[in-house]
Amino acid sequence: MRLLPLAVTVLLTLSVAYYVYTPIPDGIQEPWKLMLVDAALRTAMRLAVLKHWLGFDHYIKSFRRYTQGFEGSVNSYLTSDSSGGVIPGVKVSDVTFAGIPVRVYEPPAGGEGHLRRGLVYFHGGGWALGSAKKGSYDVTNRMVSDELNMVVVSVEYRLYPEVHFPVPYLDCLTAAKHFLSPEILAKYAVDPERVAVSGDSAGGNLAAAVAQEISTDDSMSVKFSVQALIYPALQALDINTPSFLQNQNLAILSRPFMLQFWLQYLNADLSLEPQLLVNNHSALRHSTLTPELRSRVDWTTLLPEKHKKNHKPLIVENGSPEILKEVPGLLDVRAAPLLASPEVLAKLPRAYIITCEHDVLRDDGLMYARRLQDAGVMVTNDHYEDGFHGCFSLVMWPLDFDVGKRVLRGYISWLQKNL
Ligand SMILES: *[C@@H]1O[C@H](CO)[C@@H](O)[C@H](O)[C@H]1NC(C)=O
Repeated sequence: MRLLPLAVTVLLTLSVAYYVYTPIPDGIQEPWKLMLVDAALRTAMRLAVLKHWLGFDHYIKSFRRYTQGFEGSVNSYLTSDSSGGVIPGVKVSDVTFAGIPVRVYEPPAGGEGHLRRGLVYFHGGGWALGSAKKGSYDVTNRMVSDELNMVVVSVEYRLYPEVHFPVPYLDCLTAAKHFLSPEILAKYAVDPERVAVSGDSAGGNLAAAVAQEISTDDSMSVKFSVQALIYPALQALDINTPSFLQNQNLAILSRPFMLQFWLQYLNADLSLEPQLLVNNHSALRHSTLTPELRSRVDWTTLLPEKHKKNHKPLIVENGSPEILKEVPGLLDVRAAPLLASPEVLAKLPRAYIITCEHDVLRDDGLMYARRLQDAGVMVTNDHYEDGFHGCFSLVMWPLDFDVGKRVLRGYISWLQKNL
């Protein structure tokens, strides 16, 4: 009867492999590690949805706790809050800027009259997940502060489901304006000529939108000198760009998942998802969607040839005209910074845009890079052929990916040279 345990073991192993397995494109290194991360996220999401369904808690809140608990236990020994952890020189304080909670990282003071660089950072997580204080963001911001002699302000903006657009954007804008005021910059010994705004994913969306608002606000005497956007989400009018289609079922951020984040952020009904997946919201019949606006997200003209491949634009004739009225955020530049006019773009600071080949948001970033260049803004676009969405946050053992570490090194070295 030795066969039974063997059979059970084989069956269990096969079921685990089947559960964990998800197709990963050839270009991505360490595919099994990515499958494991994705399986952990899927499991957390299933548990969260179950708890939601049983009436315990909103699924986003449970999912947030699970992912933070996981990341937190992995990284806690690296950062150990009170003792200062791996980077003892950096002072960390949790304060509020005009009522908005922020975590400030200060490198050691460099003596009388010595000014440091500054950076305002917005973390990613679909406007619903993540925290300035937890996980990889805390670690990378300490590192950035230390290596670049930089005062980093990481903003703890409010998230969905507690709030939705425009609250997260306004929280970020309020905190950014407060930091840019001459008194606060002086208090932190920050050079007003060397302040950056940055963020990843949904945080890249917020960074782009805040940069646009501040660049065009004549009442602001200090403005950002550079913007560094890491695989930003910049529009939801076309959910059928080549990158949305190419990566639609990819680990970490699938196309339906990204669309769900958008609908939640814009306070729209999730039942609209099937309509948006077929671009019914941006049909030709819409008077509110002018040819001018359409051209600002037209990947057929804005993308380099090599990324268009054999894709054809999905433009429907009739669609559902009411969606743009029901969900005004879809046409609001504060939610979709890619829709800004060339006149606004021309006022923006130099840009660093990181894009990843294996990412539904790749084309958002590539189109923005092109539109900024066309408006006369200096742009560096670092495109990672083996990059995938979220890799910037996967840099610490055991959740570390080589490409994530390269993206982080590239980010730090660009800021070193350009700020
Ligand atoms: C998209 O719009 C068309 C025209 O109104 C409609 O027939 C179709 O059912 C819509 N598609 C979806 C998925 O709702």
